[in-house]
Amino acid sequence: MTLSKTHTKMAYLHTNFLYLQPIILYTFILLTSNHGNFLTIVTAQGVPPSSTRLTSLFPHLSFDRDYSQIFGDSNAQIYANGSNAKISLDKKTGAGFASKNHYNYGFFSAAIKLPSGFTSGVVVAFYMSNSDVFPHNHDEIDFELLGHQKSRNWILQTNMYGNGSVKTGREEKFRLWFDPTTEFHEYTIIWNSHHIVFLVDNIPVREVQNTPAISSSYPSKPMAVYATIWDASPWATHGGKYPVNYKYAPFTASLGQMEMAGCAYDPKDLSGKSCSKSSSPSSLDPVDGQDFVKLSNQQIQGLQWARSKQMIYSYCKDKHRYNVLPPECTTK
Ligand SMILES: *[C@@H]1O[C@H](CO)[C@@H](O)[C@H](O)[C@H]1NC(C)=O
Ligand SMILES: *[C@@H]1O[C@H](CO)[C@@H](O)[C@H](O)[C@H]1NC(C)=O
Repeated sequence: MTLSKTHTKMAYLHTNFLYLQPIILYTFILLTSNHGNFLTIVTAQGVPPSSTRLTSLFPHLSFDRDYSQIFGDSNAQIYANGSNAKISLDKKTGAGFASKNHYNYGFFSAAIKLPSGFTSGVVVAFYMSNSDVFPHNHDEIDFELLGHQKSRNWILQTNMYGNGSVKTGREEKFRLWFDPTTEFHEYTIIWNSHHIVFLVDNIPVREVQNTPAISSSYPSKPMAVYATIWDASPWATHGGKYPVNYKYAPFTASLGQMEMAGCAYDPKDLSGKSCSKSSSPSSLDPVDGQDFVKLSNQQIQGLQWARSKQMIYSYCKDKHRYNVLPPECTTK
C-alpha cells in the first residue's frame, strides 16, 4: 500500500534528527525547574494573541459523504450523523479516512481530540498528499501529532514535501499551549500559490511562502486530505526510544468540524480544466481571496508568538543534519 510505503520512508527520515528533541526538552525542564515553578511558566507562555476565526467561515463536511475509510476496519467509526468520527490504534491496526476529492489549493481543517494517557509511539496525522497519483514525485503537507511517554506532552510536528523532495525533510516541532486530550482543537492548512500556512486554533504557527528559493519543492499538484492514526514506534517519541505500549490500547482520536474549501479536481484529469471552485463569495475564496493569500498583521503577531514561545525544533537550524542548509533557510 502506498500509504504504508510513505510512512516507512518518512519513518526512516525522521530517525535522523529526533535525537535532538530529548536534549531540548530536558534543557527546557531544567531551566524552568531552576526557576521554581514549571506550571507557572507554561501558563505565562500559554496565552496566544487573539486571531481571526477563519474556521468559522466554512461549512462542516460529512464523513459519510465527503470521505472514505482507507484502512482500519472497525477501528474507524462515524458518529453524530456523519459529522464526527473516531479512529483507533490497537495491536491489530490503526485507522484512517481520506477525502473523496483531490484539491489544487484551498482551506482544509479538522478539529481533533487526542487520546489521553500513555501514548508514546502513536501518531495522529492530518495531512494532504498525492502519493497515490504521483508515487515518484509526490507532494505532501503534514500535521503530525506525536504521542508521549509518561509526563511528557503531545508534540506537534509540521512538514512538507514538494515534487518528491523527500530527502529534504522540512520538519518543525512545537509544544502545544493547551491539553489536546480534553477538548477538540482546530488544525488548519491554507495552501495556495502564494503560501502554505499551518494554523492551530486559528493561530498561524508556520508560513511557507512560495519564493524562488523553494519553488521547485513547493507542493503544486492536486492532493487529497487524510486523517489517520498509526504506530510510528521507530521514530515518533524521542527518536524511537519509547515505542507504542499496547497495554494502554486502544488509542482513540476523535475528529470533527471537517472543512475543505477550494479547488476540487478530478484526479484523473490533471489538465487543470476540471477545477470546480466552491461557490462561496470571492471574499471567502481561499485560493485567491485576499484574506487567504497573505497574513494579516494580527496573524503575523500570532505567528511570531507561536515561533518564539512554542517552537522547539526547526530543520532550518539543524546544522547537525545539513552541512548546507536548504536554500529557503538562508534567503528571506
Ligand atoms: C443528517 O445529515 C444529513 C446530511 O448529511 C441531513 O440531511 C440530515 O438532516 C441530518 N439529520 C439530522 C438528524 O441532523
Ligand atoms: C517535478 O518532478 C518531475 C519528475 O521528476 C519533473 O519532470 C518536473 O520538472 C518537476 N517539476 C518541478 C516544478 O520542479
